[in-house]
Amino acid sequence: MAAKRPEAMKVLTVVGARPQFIKAAPVSRALRAMGSREVLVHTGQHYDREMSEIFFEEMGIREPDINLEVGSGSHGWQTGQIMVRLEKVLRAEKPDWVLVYGDTNSTLAGALVAAKLLMRVAHVEAGLRSFNRAMPEEINRIVADHLSSLLLCPSRVAVNNLAAEGITEGVHQVGDVMYDALLEFREVALRRSTILQKIEVEPKEYLLLTVHRAENTCDPERLKKILAALAESSCPVIFPVHPRTMKALLSAGFIERSNQSEEGVTGARLVLDNLSLNHIRLIEPVGYLDMLMLAQHARMILTDSGGLQKEAYWLSVPCVTLREETEWVETVEAGWNILTGTDTERILDALRSFKAPAGEDGARNLYGEPQAAERCVKLLGDLMR
Ligand code: UD1
Ligand code: UDP
Repeated sequence: MAAKRPEAMKVLTVVGARPQFIKAAPVSRALRAMGSREVLVHTGQHYDREMSEIFFEEMGIREPDINLEVGSGSHGWQTGQIMVRLEKVLRAEKPDWVLVYGDTNSTLAGALVAAKLLMRVAHVEAGLRSFNRAMPEEINRIVADHLSSLLLCPSRVAVNNLAAEGITEGVHQVGDVMYDALLEFREVALRRSTILQKIEVEPKEYLLLTVHRAENTCDPERLKKILAALAESSCPVIFPVHPRTMKALLSAGFIERSNQSEEGVTGARLVLDNLSLNHIRLIEPVGYLDMLMLAQHARMILTDSGGLQKEAYWLSVPCVTLREETEWVETVEAGWNILTGTDTERILDALRSFKAPAGEDGARNLYGEPQAAERCVKLLGDLMR
């Protein structure tokens, strides 16, 4: 049977969490540009305006055709609920491809339910491994990869990881769709974002912090060690707080408020051993444009995010990764990223002495050339039999 042209394809995209909206934006646009029909399904895993809607607005992603409105819950419950709700949609829509992104519970549920219905699964950001099965994301991506017939890898390391698990068919190194998003929106951010004025910080005079990984938020000791390092910093720290992290900080007693009726970050200050950490500015999670603005002007980024490690590299900002391992090993090997875990001394050492590699501000192509999204869409068309 001949390969279908992209314009004849029906692709059902499953997204649900913040980084997936960012990854889907360029791919969704490429699908439309090539005339494919896309059914966009939002699982509802993330639902706060600043965790979801703002990305659709800012990045011009069209409204989801269907929102499964699953909301938050335990891993089993959330994955199961997405599967139950998505199964009905897949049966009705009968797409040529089910397209999943990254490593969240939405990815796992999408891949599982599609594979059980004998539908073709394509996985964007295939082959990433931390080799730490205590991470929920590691389980999600291993299963998604093993169920996919098209594996769209951002790097050679990802391709090799798959080969080591015996997956060699349908594997393509396409580059990184997050790079496409960054290249498109970096300038837009410079024109439109007013975040630096709003929070009154000067370029290169602040550190940017994000924390949301389960291993860090579920353990108050690890949170404490991160805060203890930053308590020593003389530089202001801007901290857009993931809702999961806000809950963890509150329950561990690291938040104080003068007015108890206030909610979220409003009026909230970090406190450690009775010391207010006033130089750490808590702000609500920000949209993509504000984030690109904050990231490109930061002196240094401290994070446990996957996406932000790469963005730091692409934006030539040194990154301190608050984890023991990373999937994005190339950024460490290239000298732009350092792994400190949550050890206070290691973080402090990095704050004092970690620097970007000298004279290395040119090509940013560790994860391939731009237009990964177009390559993904072309492969969907080429490989359909
Ligand atoms: C999820 C992904 C993680 C990804 C991250 C991106 C899984 C297992 N984890 O983690 O891989 O890096 O998204 O940000 O899929 N919450 C809200 N409002 C929201 C969303 C979440 O308040 O809009 C709170 C809820 O209390 C929820 C908690 O955050 O229980 C965690 O949300 P969840 O989607 O389960 O996991 P994330 O930590 O966001
Ligand atoms: N991001 C954002 N606002 C924030 C925090 C992160 O727009 O307040 C962006 C960030 O720039 C990156 C993506 O969200 O593009 C990363 O998502 P996250 O850290 O939630 O998940 P991960 O990449 O770790 O799966």
